[in-house]
Amino acid sequence: MAALMATVIIALTLTISIAMVTAASSTVQFVFGDSLTDVGNNNFLRYSLAKSNYPWYGVDYLNGQPTGRFTNGRTMGDIISAKLGIPSPPPYLSLSMNDDAILRGVNFASGGAGILNETGLYFIQKLSFDDQITCFEKTKAAITRKIGKEASEKLCNEAVYYVGFGSNDYLNNFLQPFLADGQLYTDNEFLELLILTINGQLRRLYGLGARKVVFHGLGPMGCIPSQRVRSGTGECLEEVNQYALDFNSRVTKLLVALNAKLPGAQMTLADSYDIVLDLINNPGRYGFKVSTTSCCNVDTTVGGLCLPNSRLCSNRSEYVFWDAYHPTDAANAAIAERIFADPDIRQAPSPAPELAPAPSPL
Ligand SMILES: *[C@@H]1O[C@H](CO)[C@@H](O)[C@H](O)[C@H]1NC(C)=O
Ligand SMILES: *[C@@H]1O[C@H](CO)[C@@H](O)[C@H](O)[C@H]1NC(C)=O
Repeated sequence: MAALMATVIIALTLTISIAMVTAASSTVQFVFGDSLTDVGNNNFLRYSLAKSNYPWYGVDYLNGQPTGRFTNGRTMGDIISAKLGIPSPPPYLSLSMNDDAILRGVNFASGGAGILNETGLYFIQKLSFDDQITCFEKTKAAITRKIGKEASEKLCNEAVYYVGFGSNDYLNNFLQPFLADGQLYTDNEFLELLILTINGQLRRLYGLGARKVVFHGLGPMGCIPSQRVRSGTGECLEEVNQYALDFNSRVTKLLVALNAKLPGAQMTLADSYDIVLDLINNPGRYGFKVSTTSCCNVDTTVGGLCLPNSRLCSNRSEYVFWDAYHPTDAANAAIAERIFADPDIRQAPSPAPELAPAPSPL
């Protein structure tokens, strides 16, 4: 009954992206992203420095053990899957291509990854968005071997593709003074490079069968602890927040254009910028107390991960940030709650031409 009610409420209040997600309880999810959605892929990358397979990561997860998630408990993806009544897809690198599990969804996300290959270069090993699409390509070939071409095509057309990248392209690339991209490109040139690259990547996914794509927009990155310390006064860096706003608006236009050009494409932006900013500005409204520093007390511009010798805050559910980059389990739950409750958060760009002329790179 509760499940039925939830389905009805969701169907009535949310725009097409949620409606399409909940259309079948057997929804298959493919997840592409960075440390915000990694559920353990980097544990398998021997030389990766973007790892969270040690305490206190996972301290609030099922058995209190680290899993490779970059938070104390669940990622936002875990919580959204749970709300949809489906298991959170397992990490690609934990699976054999013979496993039937690949028919039920796979998570390709990798901490440190970006839209651009050169993003997160100093993490040595990670799966960039392009690498993750290649992993999906192999997965699809394995699915086809298992169930045949027609059924595989149908599965891939009906699956939902969650895509979330961009934070690292700014935080661990463009904004790092010693890396080339920040020297080579102006703000606008860099944004256009990202959009041009995403355009190719989403077209490649479409070519592999993806139709229902939910692109998770950037949050107010200028307010995460690692950026606040750069301000010298602990304030949010407004110019960094502006990069996120510009990125989200450019991605929206791209998705509109892709929907208009690619038959059957239903690509939408899940834009949680405003709700995350509200959580940070008014933590008390959501039952939080601290949103300006991290629970692990690792607010530095270098590192910023919650190492085993970190001193944790006394109450992890009162903090919005776990380490210098990533929200706590409690914050992920609060954000997921709002994403589900607010019909305006998931924008379903309409392909109407007057809304957005096709951007030139297409
Ligand atoms: C990233 O590297 C792969 C493999 O070398 C290449 O095919 C791809 O075009 C590169 N992508 C970008 C965005 O440079
Ligand atoms: C931790 O904080 C939450 C939210 O403010 C509160 O409900 C809970 O009682 C606190 N727990 C402890 C042990 O203080």
